[in-house]
Amino acid sequence: MIDIVPSLLSANFMHLCKDIKDCQKAGIKMFHYDVMDGHFVPNISFGYSILADITKECQLDIDVHLMISNPLKYINCFIDAGASILTFHYEAMQNDEEIKQMIDYIHQKGIQAGISINPQTPVDKIIPYLKDIDLVLVMSVEPGFGGQTFNFSALEKIKELSKLKKKYHFIIEVDGGINDQTIKEARAAGADLFVAGSYIFKAKNRKEAIKSLL
Ligand code: DX5
Ligand code: ZN
Repeated sequence: MIDIVPSLLSANFMHLCKDIKDCQKAGIKMFHYDVMDGHFVPNISFGYSILADITKECQLDIDVHLMISNPLKYINCFIDAGASILTFHYEAMQNDEEIKQMIDYIHQKGIQAGISINPQTPVDKIIPYLKDIDLVLVMSVEPGFGGQTFNFSALEKIKELSKLKKKYHFIIEVDGGINDQTIKEARAAGADLFVAGSYIFKAKNRKEAIKSLL
């Protein structure tokens, strides 16, 4: 399977269907859906009703990245809207109990659960959850906006997680500033999935942009 996950945040919302199909023609199976609430991050993107329209219309897997406060309150809405993977932020959670509850709840609904860490959050913080989690999303930019520059400190975290992966069964996804150069380093460090927004959707030729990431 192709390990590139285009972020719809950088797509043209007036031509969402065409933008998705362009990527599918290049072999893409899964898309990244960035949900921002203007509270956990200083930006607002889109909610679950647009997700429901997308999953009704297109055959695709959606990896939902919840950059919102109190994610537990909204996960049902995203599950009903057709999410395949639900990723929440470690920094958005109140305590250990709430994180465990979140992971259990997502699993009970038959969906994969992911946990994301901001550039300042060390891997140590999420070690207690690695045995239960399906995916770790390493942020290589501050969450909130597309088009930022890759923060190379993410590579150390990916390497650390790569070692831990041998003991557990999660996959490593990296998000932010991925282009044809930074992806090489993230891949060498051990990441499995690569989110790319502006590099793909702002390219003149999306098929070529995707090919250059493979
Ligand atoms: C940032 C989002 C990313 C963003 C990536 O908060 O989580 O998914 O869309 O965009 P690029 O690839 O342009 O950095
Ligand atoms: Zn994202």
